[in-house]
Amino acid sequence: MAESNRILVIHGPNLNLLGTREPEVYGRTTLAEIDADLAEMAKGRGVVLESLQSNHEGELIDRVQLAPSQERGILINPGGLTHTSVALRDALAGVGLPVVEVHLSNVHAREAFRHHSYVSGVAVGTVAGFGPLSYRLGLEALLAHLGL
Ligand code: DQA
Repeated sequence: MAESNRILVIHGPNLNLLGTREPEVYGRTTLAEIDADLAEMAKGRGVVLESLQSNHEGELIDRVQLAPSQERGILINPGGLTHTSVALRDALAGVGLPVVEVHLSNVHAREAFRHHSYVSGVAVGTVAGFGPLSYRLGLEALLAHLGL
């Protein structure tokens, strides 16, 4: 069990392109700006964030598996893996830490294939549709869930 107040923040495939990727859908805020904003918010609450972006499903799964020894919860935007990855879902379920799922866009107002999430069933809850604010709201919810 992690003793310190650490939270793992995971960004899935293509989120490294935020700022230039389909700005009409995802806005112009970069991932670095989102991470910096979250880190500042966490700092004010005595929480340290560890942030990882990867385009590789296995790398994300490997990091999730390490989380119980280092972090108390997981904030995750799984990107496209949301809609495809049983393996990522199984990893999240397997480590047993509280998970909050976030999406910049309102996935339910988009294409039908984005309406199903493999992650939602193992998450405490999901925040979607508020752009970078989704991450802040998600972190707030995870901190509250953890009593931090
Ligand atoms: C996303 C929504 C997903 O459907 C998409 O594949 C992404 C980003 C979001 O943050 O809105 O990569 O997770």
